[in-house]
Parts: sequence; structure tokens; C-alpha cells
Amino acid sequence: MNKTRITTLLAALVVSLAAVSLLWAGTTVEDTFDMKTKEYTEHTYNPAPFTHKKHAEDYNISCGECHHDADGKALELTMGDDVQRCIECHKIPGKAPKVKKGEKKLKGAEKRQYHAEALHDNCISCHKDFNKDFKKKNPAEKKGPAPTSCNKCHPGGKIK
Ligand code: HEC
Ligand code: HEC
Ligand code: HEC
Ligand code: HEC
Repeated sequence: MNKTRITTLLAALVVSLAAVSLLWAGTTVEDTFDMKTKEYTEHTYNPAPFTHKKHAEDYNISCGECHHDADGKALELTMGDDVQRCIECHKIPGKAPKVKKGEKKLKGAEKRQYHAEALHDNCISCHKDFNKDFKKKNPAEKKGPAPTSCNKCHPGGKIK
């Protein structure tokens, strides 16, 4: 076998290995991204930045605190596993419609059909619990570090 032939073979091997690793990569996720789900026709608030890697690694939150199956049961995942996006199940973009006086407010699962309600539930309830705990452990602090107000998550608040 001459040198060029070996080089060609090696090159082919590298290309096919790269192709295989792509196939096996599953769903990838950015370390940090803006929550701006593309199925929305319009966003009325500036997008909330989300430090995915920090949440999973530095804050030591297990994947299943946020990712669950079609019954709402927490998933045990490792990086590289396929993951469904929230909107695949919490299908309606935006918040639940405001109700008129006398009408019943949507609650629980019905409310969480609306994507933004499911996200708010997940993000804010954990942040509230965490801050409560944090203040208990640090009585001198007035506030916990996890954001719970509109403008802390949506920088600049409402889009003008
Ligand atoms: C604090 C909540 C939270 C934790 C913890 C978390 N994730 Fe996520 N993850 C999200 C959110 C929110 C998205 C964005 C989903 C969307 O676009 O609907 C996401 C997106 C992803 C995606 C990309 C999905 C896609 O198709 O765009 C993958 C893959 C993923 N996460 C895997 C994991 C794994 C594996 C772990 C654990 C090591 C983990 N996540 C921990 C909340 C979390
Ligand atoms: C495969 C479908 C599916 C996907 C994907 C999915 N959910 Fe859910 N989720 C459900 C079902 C079913 C329930 C149970 C009904 C309910 O309580 O809304 C649920 C429940 C919830 C709850 C209520 C949990 C509780 O304990 O009260 C929150 C909050 C939530 N989902 C947020 C999210 C977020 C955030 C994502 C994306 C990171 C996501 N869901 C992805 C199907 C899904
Ligand atoms: C299960 C718990 C949990 C969930 C769910 C969660 N967070 Fe957090 N988040 C934390 C904790 C804990 C901190 C603060 C950690 C610290 O500073 O010590 C934090 C901090 C943050 C911060 C400020 C610091 C940083 O890393 O950017 C932002 C912004 C944030 N979260 C956005 C979100 C959004 C958006 C979601 C929903 C998609 C979300 N979080 C869901 C636990 C959670
Ligand atoms: C912990 C972070 C967090 C807090 C606090 C928070 N949001 Fe959100 N909000 C989100 C995330 C994440 C989404 C999902 C956006 C997406 O995926 O496109 C969202 C979606 C929305 C949407 C639908 C999308 C849009 O731009 O029209 C509205 C409206 C909204 N939020 C308003 C508010 C208001 C008002 C408050 C305060 C009462 C608030 N949010 C507090 C994280 C947060």
C-alpha cells in the first residue's frame, strides 16, 4: 500500500467516525440560551436567559426536576440523551387567557396546557422554595439569589 492510499483510507475513516458520533449525539443543549420558544407567534416580554449547564451542574439540580415523561414522571437522564421540548406537551404558546369576572380561573394541569404557565410553575416554584430555605440558613440576608420577579427573569420587562 502506498502512502497516498493510506492517507485516503485514514481520511475516510475520520469522516465516517465523525458521522457516527453525530448520529449518536442524541439531543444536544447549549450551556446558556434565551428562552424564546419558536412556536410562539409573538413574545411580549424580553426573553429570559437560562443557564442550563449551571443549573444542572453548579446548582446540582437533577434533570428530572425539569424533564419528565408523558405522565409527568421525572426522567433520569444523562447528557446526550434525547429530550422532548416542553412545548411538545404544554402545547399552547403563551399564558392562559385572563378570565372575566365570575368565570372560573384555570388551575393545575388545565392551566399548564399553556406553555408559559408550565414554565413559570417550574422555574418560579423552585426559586421560591430555594430562597425560603436560603433565608432560613442565612438569617442576615433579606433576599435569596434565585429570581422570582418579572424583570429579574425578563431583562427590561415588557417589550415596548
Ligand atoms: C432547571 C431545569 C432543568 C434542568 C435541571 C435540566 N434541564 Fe434540560 N432543559 C430545560 C429547559 C427549560 C430546556 C428548554 C426546553 C425547550 O426548549 O422546550 C432544556 C433543554 C434541554 C435539552 C435540549 C432539548 C431540545 O431539543 O432543544 C436537552 C438535551 C436537555 N435539556 C437535557 C438535560 C439533561 C440531560 C439534564 C440533566 C443533566 C438537564 N437537561 C437538566 C430545563 C432543565
Ligand atoms: C412528554 C410530555 C411532557 C413534556 C415534554 C413536558 N411535560 Fe410537563 N407535564 C406533563 C404532564 C402529563 C404533566 C402532568 C399534568 C400537569 O400537572 O400539568 C406535567 C406536569 C408539569 C408541571 C407540574 C408539576 C408538578 O409537580 O406540579 C410542570 C411545572 C411542568 N410539567 C413543566 C414542564 C417543563 C418546564 C417542561 C420542559 C422542560 C415540561 N414540563 C415538559 C407532560 C410533559
Ligand atoms: C429545581 C430548581 C430550579 C428550577 C426548576 C429552575 N431554577 Fe433557576 N435557579 C435555581 C437556583 C438554586 C438558583 C440560584 C443559585 C445560586 O445563585 O446560588 C437559580 C438561579 C437562576 C438565575 C440567576 C442566576 C443564573 O444562573 O442565571 C436565573 C436567571 C434562573 N435561575 C432562571 C431560571 C429559569 C428561566 C428557569 C426555568 C426554565 C429556572 N431558573 C428553573 C434553581 C432552579
Ligand atoms: C424564573 C424566571 C421567570 C419569572 C420570574 C417570570 N418569567 Fe415569564 N417566562 C419565563 C420563561 C422561561 C418563559 C417561556 C418563554 C419561552 O419559552 O418562549 C416565560 C414566558 C412568559 C410570557 C409568554 C411569552 C411572552 O413574552 O409573551 C409572558 C407574557 C411572561 N413570561 C410574563 C411574565 C410576567 C408578567 C412575570 C412576572 C409576574 C414573569 N413572566 C415572571 C420565565 C420567567
